[in-house]
Amino acid sequence: MSTQPPILVDFNCPVTVGNEMDYMKQAIASGKISGDGSFTKKCSQFLEEALGVPKVLLTTSCTHALDMMPILLGIRPGDEVIIPSFTFASTVNAFVLRGARPVFLDVRPDTLNLDESLLERKITPQTKAIAPVHYAGIGCEMDAILDIARLYNIAVVEDNAHGLFGKYKGKYLGTFGTLAAQSFHETKNFSCGEGGALLINDPALVERAEIIREKGTNRSRFFRGQVDKYTWVDIGSSYLPSDILAAFLYAQMENREKIQSHRKRVWSFYLKNLKDWALAHDVQLPHVPEYCDQAYHMFFMLLPTLEHRQGLIAHLRQRGIDSVFHYLPLHLSDMGLRFGGQTGDCPVTERVSDQLLRLPFHNALTEAEQQKVVDTILEFDF
Ligand SMILES: Cc1ncc(COP(=O)(O)O)c(C=O)c1O
Repeated sequence: MSTQPPILVDFNCPVTVGNEMDYMKQAIASGKISGDGSFTKKCSQFLEEALGVPKVLLTTSCTHALDMMPILLGIRPGDEVIIPSFTFASTVNAFVLRGARPVFLDVRPDTLNLDESLLERKITPQTKAIAPVHYAGIGCEMDAILDIARLYNIAVVEDNAHGLFGKYKGKYLGTFGTLAAQSFHETKNFSCGEGGALLINDPALVERAEIIREKGTNRSRFFRGQVDKYTWVDIGSSYLPSDILAAFLYAQMENREKIQSHRKRVWSFYLKNLKDWALAHDVQLPHVPEYCDQAYHMFFMLLPTLEHRQGLIAHLRQRGIDSVFHYLPLHLSDMGLRFGGQTGDCPVTERVSDQLLRLPFHNALTEAEQQKVVDTILEFDF
């Protein structure tokens, strides 16, 4: 039996950064711990003001914010949606749940974002949406994506799970598409364990979004006194997080500068201390185009081969450091194959999913821990 040493440096470690405990107590004392209480409103307002988005609805997860998108866009069985193969299952599931056919696109080898140069050839009369994912919180080529979408009258929805407060050409990620989804899962920069948000950039969709999020009822209008009773008016589900979670999240949001400046330090430390080693060993480090302000969500590296990647994960783990790989190509997953995915469809995705390794990255990571990670990597010679 192989013995693994204890983990000394966690890949992720969710921590409180401010008034999380106090605010949760306040939520409980208020007597309203279901959805849309005062902390939910504070979080929504904070995001609306910070990002300049007309309406933000907190949701129970990014997955659920994504699930609301195809309903709001009126996606029907047989419609097609273009999605990068290099993403999480939630991006595609949302559309498949409505009967849409996913069309998987490869990613750019530099940013690992949807390759906009391949987009136009995938468009058919059935294409109804394009769902770019800002991988690692570094913006996709939104100018080109939006130009093509406008030309063919196709909606753009952003999966911005990684990218809160990242910018593309000075504009916040999540503000380009008709809709965008955020994640507050425990691995994200800002977290409440499980949580998300739907950013609604088209005000015409706000009222229906409130209904879908409230089990298909017009309860939000009732609470605002706009109708005298509420009833079932549309399809929907229960996508409201408890106000206890919103209380936790609001404390994190209040500490936006502290969190983001810490994460910038962590990212910059890795880059500074690993770039010579990476150059000497043919390891690719993240590429941030000069017109992108990244969200500092993760630090990844592309090792030359799968064997090198697995070797480095094992080398780090033997020394108590937890590092992880990321997405497997969706077009080659069990579900992707059912939609006709074949090896060779998305060669960059197929390659990078074997090569990618993510280093420990969280809001409590110390410089000493990072130094240990760096020193251990530098010992890994090949
Ligand atoms: C790109 C992307 N979209 C969506 C999700 C799902 O997020 P959540 O766990 O908040 O539902 C993830 C998960 O990390 C993700 O990486």
